[in-house]
Amino acid sequence: MSFSLPKVIGHRGAAGHAPENTLAGIRKSAELGVRMVEFDVKLTGDGVPVVIHDDTVDRTTDGTGPVRDMTFDRIRSLDAGIRFGREFEGERVPSLDEALRLCVELDLAINIEIKPCPGREAETAEVALTRARALWPAERPAPLISSFALESLRQAMETAPDWPRGYLIWERPDDWRDNVARLRPATLNVCHEKETPRTIADYRETGLPVLAYTVNEAPRARTLYGLGVAAVFSDRPDEILAVA
Ligand code: G3P
Ligand code: MG
Repeated sequence: MSFSLPKVIGHRGAAGHAPENTLAGIRKSAELGVRMVEFDVKLTGDGVPVVIHDDTVDRTTDGTGPVRDMTFDRIRSLDAGIRFGREFEGERVPSLDEALRLCVELDLAINIEIKPCPGREAETAEVALTRARALWPAERPAPLISSFALESLRQAMETAPDWPRGYLIWERPDDWRDNVARLRPATLNVCHEKETPRTIADYRETGLPVLAYTVNEAPRARTLYGLGVAAVFSDRPDEILAVA
């Protein structure tokens, strides 16, 4: 199945300009001219896929506590905008459904990062991808499904076998090539601060596109593109678009 890979991907929406992983952030990315956004998905205590990065709501909302212990209704009562700025007061933690619908409306390509709470690796991928497959129009380029959790990627192969997978790497493990062989990703999504020209060349030898996160300085993006990096994730994608 085809998927879209522009050179700049809005990170958590456009986390430098609007509260991360919110509908306002996704809208902001589209306004800035970005063609693809990344957001993180985990499950609430009652099993609803929502768009949020951390295991707790503390950093990004006005509430406290672990996402896995909260019902969807409880999470929806929290404000996910106010910590970023008063003008975003009233933003909510989006459901996956809402985020998908908005991306369709805005004609954005997407990267869904499966970000499971510990112990929910397979379940999070299964629930989120079952939902996404029900909602995402078949005629649109398929979402890129990424995760650091190998078990989530394995589940993605089962639930959405024809959707491309992104193998997310933080510190490259010795067996990364085995993981590539086993999980058959379509992209390698690597932390640019951990990589060197040599390691990027290693990744490129696989023939897979290399994506780098999170790149917020235009000169660094230019260097990475020069090393053959296909796309970068950025909190300030507008600044990177200028050099892409
Ligand atoms: O998917 C790229 C990037 O989002 C991975 O790191 O922690 O921002 O989800 P993180
Ligand atoms: Mg992410």
